[in-house]
Parts: sequence; C-alpha cells; structure tokens
Amino acid sequence: MSDASNPAANKMWGGRFSSGVDSIMEAINASIGFDRRLAPQDIEGSRAHAAMLAAQGIITDNDAEAIREGLLTVLSEIEGGSFEFSTALEDIHMNVEARLTQLIGTPAGRLHTARSRNDQVAVDFRLWARDQYDAAISGLQALQEALLAQADAGAGWVMPGFTHLQTAQPVTWGHHMLAYVEMAGRDLSRFRDGRARMNECPLGAAALAGTSFPIDRHATATALGFDRPMANSLDAVSDRDFALEFLASASICAMHLSRLAEELVIWSSAQFRFVTLSDRFSTGSSIMPQKKNPDAAELIRAKIGRIVGANVALLTVMKGLPLAYSKDMQEDKEQVFDAADTLILALAAMTGMIADMTANREQLEAAAASGFSTATDLADWLVRELGLPFRDAHHVTGSLVAMAEAQGCDLPDLTLEQMQGVHAGITAGVFEVLGVYNSVASRTSYGGTAPERVREQVALWGDRIG
Ligand code: ARG
Repeated sequence: MSDASNPAANKMWGGRFSSGVDSIMEAINASIGFDRRLAPQDIEGSRAHAAMLAAQGIITDNDAEAIREGLLTVLSEIEGGSFEFSTALEDIHMNVEARLTQLIGTPAGRLHTARSRNDQVAVDFRLWARDQYDAAISGLQALQEALLAQADAGAGWVMPGFTHLQTAQPVTWGHHMLAYVEMAGRDLSRFRDGRARMNECPLGAAALAGTSFPIDRHATATALGFDRPMANSLDAVSDRDFALEFLASASICAMHLSRLAEELVIWSSAQFRFVTLSDRFSTGSSIMPQKKNPDAAELIRAKIGRIVGANVALLTVMKGLPLAYSKDMQEDKEQVFDAADTLILALAAMTGMIADMTANREQLEAAAASGFSTATDLADWLVRELGLPFRDAHHVTGSLVAMAEAQGCDLPDLTLEQMQGVHAGITAGVFEVLGVYNSVASRTSYGGTAPERVREQVALWGDRIG
C-alpha cells in the first residue's frame, strides 16, 4: 500500500505499513522532545554527507547544492525559532529531512543515499559530545587558573591541615589550593584522553554493514573534523563508550568539585571564617538578616548526583545490548545532555567562587596554631635532638598535650620546667619547632607543604597553564 492510498502511514518508513501508529506508540517512540538539541550537528553531518555524495558522483552537483542551501534554511529556521517540530516525525533526523523536502522537493530524497539514521545519530551525538569534551577542558583550565592565583597569593600562609576533620599539622594555604590544581590537572588529562579516543567518524557505516555505494568516508571524516573514519561499521553504529567515558570523567571531576565545595561551606561558616565568599556567589536568607549562604557551593556539592546518575543510567542502557543498533540507544541522550550542562555550569560557578574568594589570613593563622597542631614537630624534635625512639617520643608528646589540655593552653604556652617534668632532657630549643611557621618551613620533602616547595610548584603550574 502506498503513502498516496494511505496518508496516515509514516512518510519516511511507512511504505509497508497499512496504518499509522497509536498515539501511545508515538509518545514512547519520539525523541524530538530532546534530540532537537542535535539539530546543528545533524545539519552539519548532512552537509558533509551531501557534499561527499556529489564529489563521488553519487548525486548531481545540482542536487547537492539544493540540499546545501535547503539545509542552511532549515538551520536558520531552527535557530530563529520558527521551525515547527513534529512528534509524528519522531526525531531530529526526520524532522529536518521532512522540512528539507518541503523546501526543495525531490533532491531532499537523495540525501539519505548510503546513510541510515543509525550512523546519522551516531555522528550527531559524537559531534555534540566532542564539543562537551572541549567545554569541560576549558572549564577546568579556568578553574586551575583561579586556584593557582589563590595558591600564589598565599603560598606561605599557614592554616590547619586536617585528617578526620581534626586538626593534624599546619599546612600552607598555597599547598591546599595546589592539591585541587593537581586534581583538576588529572581531570583535564582524562577529558583530553577521551577526546582523542572519541574523535573518529561513524558516518558511512550506514545501517550497520556499510554500503555498496562508492562513498568516501575519509572525506566526510575530514570535513567534520574527525581524525579518521571508524574502522568497523558495526562498532560505529552501536557503541556509546565516548559518552560513557565523558560521564565517567565528569563523575570524577564532579566528585573533586564536591569536595572543594564542601570545604568552602565549612570554611565560610562563622565557626571557621577561613574564607569570605563574595556577594556575587552567595545568597541571603529571607528571615535571618545576618545570613550569607554559600548556596553555589552547596549546589556544586550536590550536582554530582545527577552526573553519576547519568553515568549509571547509560551504562545500564548499554549493558547486554546485542550488536548493532537497538532502539534502547535512543535513551542515550537526555541524561548525558543534563550531565554535561551540569558539569560545565558547576565548573563555571566554582571558578567564579574561587576567583572571588578572600582567604582570611589572620584567621587561618590563628586556627593553624590551635589544636596542638605542632605535636608531631615536638615528637620529631625529641627523636632528632634527644635520640628517642619515635614511639617513646610519641608517648612523651602525648603526655605534654594532655598537660596543656588540662591547663587550657597550647603547647608553646607550657613552661620549660613543666616540659622537663615530663622528660628531663628537653631544652629551650624545643620552642623553635612549636611555632607553626617553623613547622611548615621544615616540611621541605618533595611534595611537602613548605612555602619554598609550594612556590616551586606554583611556578611549574604557571608554566604548564600559561
Ligand atoms: N532517534 C533515534 C535515536 O536516537 C535515531 C536512530 C533511529 N534508528 C532506527 N533504526 N530506528 O537513536
């Protein structure tokens, strides 16, 4: 039965169908509600395909030119908001082609020669994903710059270092900022690796087996900025690992952002006051006038949920799918779109917060000296100067901490006589290591917190980034 005798059947594939689809079928089948986002990539892919078909003599130059102009018109209609998307036309591919047919007639029908929606959607999604890799990379570079500026400004400032969120040993502010520069650096390299791996072109794989037309896959790959065509047509239409790798890298990056966000929430609280966040990245309370809330940090702390969720969702969609294309794979897009938007926004918000943030040097310094933070320096001194085994030194220091705690003072406030009461060999020299600046200055081991080490790393990162 032809379309002419059965106008209800789908114009793109309805040749063998005697009726149209149920409205529920249409609702579950359609992806146009979300894959319209791929319109620019779809049109870019179609333009490259049409130009290649003409260059290979598969369609005429006239038809190719009509297709090219028609596609540009469709793109401007979509960008201008006048394009009417139709759910009956299922997806972005058929919406574009149907409009092209209205605009240019018969040549539009030749565009789909040697192509299938399977390689079409694969190329669209890859082109889109490649842009997201690039956006993540530049977002991370900007974040690194903001963190590095903080590290540079406060390379020698002291603050408490924590383990278990209990005061552990004094560290430098620059050292703490550089820890996140390193994390962002690994995130960057993950995205760069993934981008290099994914930059191969699936177009020309057709439905799954390739095509009998004399196409030039190298030409379309080059035209679309890919390094090469994918070597196996079955693989080309059926894997989504490029999106999964993006989500996996995004999940790890979002985890790093979440940790930094949590520190900002803690640090900006009235109890810590380590940092002051700018008004530009804070909000007020509608009832408590004194409040300045770190909402952006809290949201970044939470955003990882959607990103990891998308990662799990897509892995679960892909798991167990036989080769090659299955309609399950239409479920690959929405959550990846959301995850990419979320990550890029979270990176921008974090960059803004870090760039605007003021570290409160005096507060950091005061906190660095509290909580017996130089107890390890004291124990090390007992080992170095008195030759005590470390375990004994640890014990003696523990007794001194208990004494200070009982007196409600810090370690440097104990008198020499009180210390000698615990261990007779202690001399006045011990007071030198009890100061926080001496403590951080002494930690010169590679990767350590000493200001000189931090400045070296700041310089190295400055060269790498700049
Ligand atoms: N909308 C589809 C998707 O996103 C396009 C590919 C459809 N292919 C097919 N053989 N029905 O996966």
